[in-house]
Amino acid sequence: MTIPVEVATVAGCARLEGAGGAALLDRLVPGGGPWELEIGFGKGRFLLARAAERRDLRFLGLEVAGEYFRLAARRLARRGLANAALVRGEALYLLAAVLPRAFARELHVYFPDPWPKSRHQRRRLFSPASVDLVLGALEPGGRLCFATDHLDYGAEVEAILAGCPGLTVARRSGGWEDGPRTNYEAKYVEEGRPILRLEAVLAGAPGLHPAGAREVLVACAVAGTGGAGDDAPGW
Ligand SMILES: C[S@@+](CC[C@H](N)C(=O)[O-])C[C@H]1O[C@@H](n2cnc3c(N)ncnc32)[C@H](O)[C@@H]1O
Repeated sequence: MTIPVEVATVAGCARLEGAGGAALLDRLVPGGGPWELEIGFGKGRFLLARAAERRDLRFLGLEVAGEYFRLAARRLARRGLANAALVRGEALYLLAAVLPRAFARELHVYFPDPWPKSRHQRRRLFSPASVDLVLGALEPGGRLCFATDHLDYGAEVEAILAGCPGLTVARRSGGWEDGPRTNYEAKYVEEGRPILRLEAVLAGAPGLHPAGAREVLVACAVAGTGGAGDDAPGW
């Protein structure tokens, strides 16, 4: 890793340079213990509460908004959570360029920005092109927990996940066993807004989503590097 990343641990905030991947994770939270990852943790309500409750696990949060990152960093330090670390940045970039693959036992994504306008939809965290990268953070057997109040987007995410080789996805019929997890969820539950919650389990290593694989093939064909010229399948 050559680009510095802004991180927060119990010791405070810092800009780290040097090795990324598993070495970065071990530097952030030394010692052992399975990892849980939350993408877009907002004010950190879920991540920090769960880290306080499960000191045997290690927690990593990714958040692009500096204001939320700093707020959660102060809370993390105040609560003395030595088993948690926060990284500020765009999640897909961090997953692609900074973090290792297959390190997390659980992945939490609650109320990701839905980008409802069609010209903005390419910014969504879950798309056929990005889902392999997102699920690539999970170790084999790992679990994804997802929630949204944008029911159309939730149904699209459900369909994308259902198309992922090796992944079993199911809707939860009610709330989580531990109650509303995040600030958005608590607010929407109080308002009585319908929420779509998904749980998905990865049987083995994630396979490329067929639509993601197609984009890779097309990009290779355009770049002339993939041998996918006239002989490419007729997608
Ligand atoms: C609608 S809020 C939900 C916050 C929190 N998960 C909750 O449920 O209360 C979406 C959060 O995801 C963050 N976010 C959006 N896109 C992101 C990205 N590409 N990488 C990391 N965080 C992102 C936003 O800054 C925001 O904090």
